[in-house]
Amino acid sequence: MADRKLDVTIVGGGMITAVQILPSIYQLQRLGIVGEIKVVALNSAPLKALAGNSMLNKAFPGQSFKSCPDYKKVEPTKNYPELYKEIIKKMKPGNLVFVAMPDQLHYGVVKEALKNNQHVCSVKPLVLNYKEAKEIEEEALAKGLFVGIEYHKRFDDRSLIARRRYENGEFGEFKIGQAHLMEPWYYRHSNFQNWCTVKNSDAFSYVACHYIDLVAFITGLLPVEVSVYGISEKYPNGNDGFLWTDGRVIWNNGACLNVVNGFGYPDEAPGGNTQGIVLHTRGKDSGGIISHSDQFRGVKHSVLVKGSDPDDKYYYETNPDYFQMVYKGGEGYEPVGYGFRSIEANCLAALRVNAAVDLKDKMKVIKRIDEEGVVATPANSYYNELVMEAGRLSITNGGKPVVIEYGDNPGVRFKLDSEYKKYL
Ligand SMILES: NC(=O)c1ccc[n+]([C@@H]2O[C@H](COP(=O)([O-])OP(=O)(O)OC[C@H]3O[C@@H](n4cnc5c(N)ncnc54)[C@H](O)[C@@H]3O)[C@@H](O)[C@H]2O)c1
Repeated sequence: MADRKLDVTIVGGGMITAVQILPSIYQLQRLGIVGEIKVVALNSAPLKALAGNSMLNKAFPGQSFKSCPDYKKVEPTKNYPELYKEIIKKMKPGNLVFVAMPDQLHYGVVKEALKNNQHVCSVKPLVLNYKEAKEIEEEALAKGLFVGIEYHKRFDDRSLIARRRYENGEFGEFKIGQAHLMEPWYYRHSNFQNWCTVKNSDAFSYVACHYIDLVAFITGLLPVEVSVYGISEKYPNGNDGFLWTDGRVIWNNGACLNVVNGFGYPDEAPGGNTQGIVLHTRGKDSGGIISHSDQFRGVKHSVLVKGSDPDDKYYYETNPDYFQMVYKGGEGYEPVGYGFRSIEANCLAALRVNAAVDLKDKMKVIKRIDEEGVVATPANSYYNELVMEAGRLSITNGGKPVVIEYGDNPGVRFKLDSEYKKYL
């Protein structure tokens, strides 16, 4: 257990903060791992919604966060785009900034946190390109600060079991596979339509990274080529977004993963989304399979009353493993699942670094966490930024294959005509 508490400033007060980050941080506060909690948003509207969130209030009676700006004092729509800088500046060194704002803004917040000697946990993706990820890795290490990326699928026990079996050689070698993660249709109506647009992002960048990271996590392979076909459609507000994507990722052993993503899961359907992975493997003279249904996990609940949220239903196939609030004695509800375990692991990693006596020792702990490869860090998951760069280059060029180069100066480039293997 921690000998000092981490104060946490969450930058971004949107959907992921409400459903996963804030409840996890509240639980860590309840456990004595986290001290003061602040949440900064662009304006006060989402902060008022968070403060009034009935599930959070029921789960964590008596706990609250400091709202920046203060939703009780300012106009809900007045914007404070630079306020996070002031708030981070006031933090004592060695605490934690949790980055939970739109993808293209992560870099600025991470840099501000490091400048002010704060540890960082960022929602995926850390940043949108390798160069920035490398810069963050080096700056954090030099200052003895931990940076983690919240790839929570790594903390799903089924991923850890598959990883153990793969490492033991029980599956042989990954050859070909498919992953899909289709988010609900109603996401199109949310704040996504303001930022997850053709210019900034796409369904592949937004969700494919989860399974691409997982394949690397389980197999230890590296992605070396990416091509992404995207279908652009209008959001309700008229912005254009790549709302359906099909990606092909080639790995450094020649294996191939096909990844289908989008915002098209029916709002009326019983899960929160549809997602899963099937990897075919081979040994010397036989095939193996890793097949995970990550949406349907055997739970079927029919309820008598339907609420008014877009994801409320009469019939649910609830995922009990990602993030649920349950009563386990004591006061209120507790978050359970790999969504909580992942945030807990990131906070504990920051505390491991704080427990080291001097900079040299802190650097050693950071390197050790990198090597363990369980919590995602810039050093052990930088291929995700390369995939992101390659995916964006491909999707904005009609799906052209893009090669990822490693070595001293990793980067991406279009595949050359001479690199296509000819068979006839
Ligand atoms: N499964 C996952 O890992 C997962 C799921 C959902 C979202 N995410 C990631 O989380 C991030 C946020 O997603 P979301 O769904 O919560 O988005 P959202 O649009 O609901 O919320 C974004 C929040 O950022 C805040 N923000 C914007 N500019 C700001 C600024 N200058 N200063 C302070 N706050 C600012 C907004 O006020 C808003 O509260 C994205 O990077 C997304 O990719 C990850």
